[in-house]
Amino acid sequence: MFKGKLLHGGDYNPEQWLDCPEILEEDIRLMEEAGVNCVTLGVFSWAVLEPEEGVYDFNWLEERIDRLGESGIQVILATPSGAMPHWLTQKYPEAMQVQENGKRNLPGKRHNFCYTSPVMREKIHALDERLSEQFGKKENVILWHISNELGGNFSDGACHCKLCQEAFRGWLKKKYKTLDNLNRAWWGRFWSHVYTDWNQVHSPAPHGEWSMTGLTVDWRRFVSEQMSDFCRSEIQAVKKYSDLPVTTNLMAFFKNLDYNRLKQEIDIISWDSYPFWHKSKDEVPEAVWASANHSLMRALKKGPFLLMESVPSAVNWREYNPLKRPGMHMLSSLQAVAHGSDSVQYFQWRKGRGAYEKFHGAVLDHLNGKNTRTFRDVAEVGERLYALTECLKGTVNVPKAAVIFDWENWWAVEDTTGPRLDLDYVECVLAHYRAFWEAGIEADLIGMDEPLDGYRLVSAPLNYMYKSGYANKVKRFVENGGLYVTTYFSGAVDDTDLCFTENHPLEDVLGIVPEEIDAPSEEFANSFSYQGREYPAVRMCAVVHPKEGTGVLSVYEKDFYAGAPVVTRNSYGEGQAFFIAAQSDMDFLRVFYRDMFQKAGLQNALGIELPYGVTITERVPQKGYKGQAAEEGVVFVMNFRHEPAELSGLGEWKDAENGEIVSSVLRMEKLSCRILTK
Ligand code: GLA
Repeated sequence: MFKGKLLHGGDYNPEQWLDCPEILEEDIRLMEEAGVNCVTLGVFSWAVLEPEEGVYDFNWLEERIDRLGESGIQVILATPSGAMPHWLTQKYPEAMQVQENGKRNLPGKRHNFCYTSPVMREKIHALDERLSEQFGKKENVILWHISNELGGNFSDGACHCKLCQEAFRGWLKKKYKTLDNLNRAWWGRFWSHVYTDWNQVHSPAPHGEWSMTGLTVDWRRFVSEQMSDFCRSEIQAVKKYSDLPVTTNLMAFFKNLDYNRLKQEIDIISWDSYPFWHKSKDEVPEAVWASANHSLMRALKKGPFLLMESVPSAVNWREYNPLKRPGMHMLSSLQAVAHGSDSVQYFQWRKGRGAYEKFHGAVLDHLNGKNTRTFRDVAEVGERLYALTECLKGTVNVPKAAVIFDWENWWAVEDTTGPRLDLDYVECVLAHYRAFWEAGIEADLIGMDEPLDGYRLVSAPLNYMYKSGYANKVKRFVENGGLYVTTYFSGAVDDTDLCFTENHPLEDVLGIVPEEIDAPSEEFANSFSYQGREYPAVRMCAVVHPKEGTGVLSVYEKDFYAGAPVVTRNSYGEGQAFFIAAQSDMDFLRVFYRDMFQKAGLQNALGIELPYGVTITERVPQKGYKGQAAEEGVVFVMNFRHEPAELSGLGEWKDAENGEIVSSVLRMEKLSCRILTK
């Protein structure tokens, strides 16, 4: 619970309306009506805060913050580095990014700055320090918001300028000490790619080097480091005169920046969620995608996070942009809270009149003031969140299962060449996560460096790279009674993408010896039977040999490797490890994980089987919460179907919002969320 409240509000850009005082006054009045208690100011205000180099104008901001304060509205104050003013790019073009092709960007757009550039840092720090001095102790300013969606321009997010190349070489020198070490780690003698001078190292580029995954993965690590360092430097500036906590808004499954690295710099995790609702009548894939991202954000710091942005109606940047159907705004907002968010914030409060985002959904449209369906939807969320304050106070989600989702593995498995070029790590993780979601078993999405303590079941699909220490951690986890699941193309390479030789690092734990991987065409697809039903084995089919004592639960049915295992089980210490050799379909994963949940002693909070499209999560009083936490936990039941759902066999519960007793059967409206307690 952030500052004792569930936050409700969003990005507010009054600088676009400074010449319309009546609009600014109306904003405050309507915010009160919409139950808004928190807005984010200043995200893209650089040109207004510092209209000329070294000339600052904070009066409008001060006036807005004070006016919001009078109405009891809190402020998240952003640093405006997300977009550079024209005076800056004109005078200091070196502050703009250089793309992979070596071309420097032209001015414009946003997220366009070089993370290394000393002049960019100098200019933004000067502004940040002044913001810190003037607003860092203001009563209604509660949180710093650094920049905006770091790394989020439309290419690889990185800058490839000379300064970045030098910084990359410096980073490599620190890591490898000698060129010999670097050449060994990157397998440099291949195609004569031996480096004899540090200055020969260049960032990956389509018209240059991209054939060494050791290099591409190290470059991505460096880029994450550089972005995190930029963030840290802004944090130092805003903390100069202020003790407020700091966040930066993250994005869904964002490949350019390792959030497990960035999280070390910030106090609070927040993210921007834009699922593609109504892409089809079956909302489950998008609901799973959103839940997985919420679970990832929650797991970064193992605790509450903030939903920093979401759209109250439709975005404008997809090929087509459906309006949220009745019920979906409430449901998707509560979905965030159900997974541990302590806020529902929007982009944005009021639609601008011009430029790129004028048709992006906002709480207030161009026409009709508060007389819109969107405004009513938002006000309803505000009211419901307010009413939920007490029963969610000090509550958190404590999953007993985890799915490994690791950035370095993501980069490596998709950068490497073979066995297929169309491997999609996120898609694979989502398929496994979906089995948890459908069963209502919550899972954290965690990186390979995270501790596994406290989990009973850990699943690591497509876990191609084993970072140093990972195999030993898994060994201990299984030895101590944990249940571990992994798949084809796991444990192939080390941190720098060098293949393991001799033994698979988890050979003893998994009880298998991998030999080959078939990446067959559709015509050569295989199949296997599991518990009396046949399933497809497609796209990736590992051929492995069971070691003595390993249970073979299923075998390939066709081709020259018919009879080789598809699903194996091995007991190791107190625990068990399962290996899935082939890619299959959702029907298989559903049945397979049902067994895993049973073996791990995991059941959902209602202890029942859920109808398709319905999932549940649980928030329980946090141990060691400072303050008066709620006495009981609550269970969020969410129906993502466009039709009513009925859950039966759930015993006696109480509706946490209206006190109604729910006995055995729970009836749910279409696209709705109920919150139960004991
Ligand atoms: C991102 C940005 C916002 C806005 C929204 C629009 O999340 O942070 O500034 O552009 O997208 O969807």
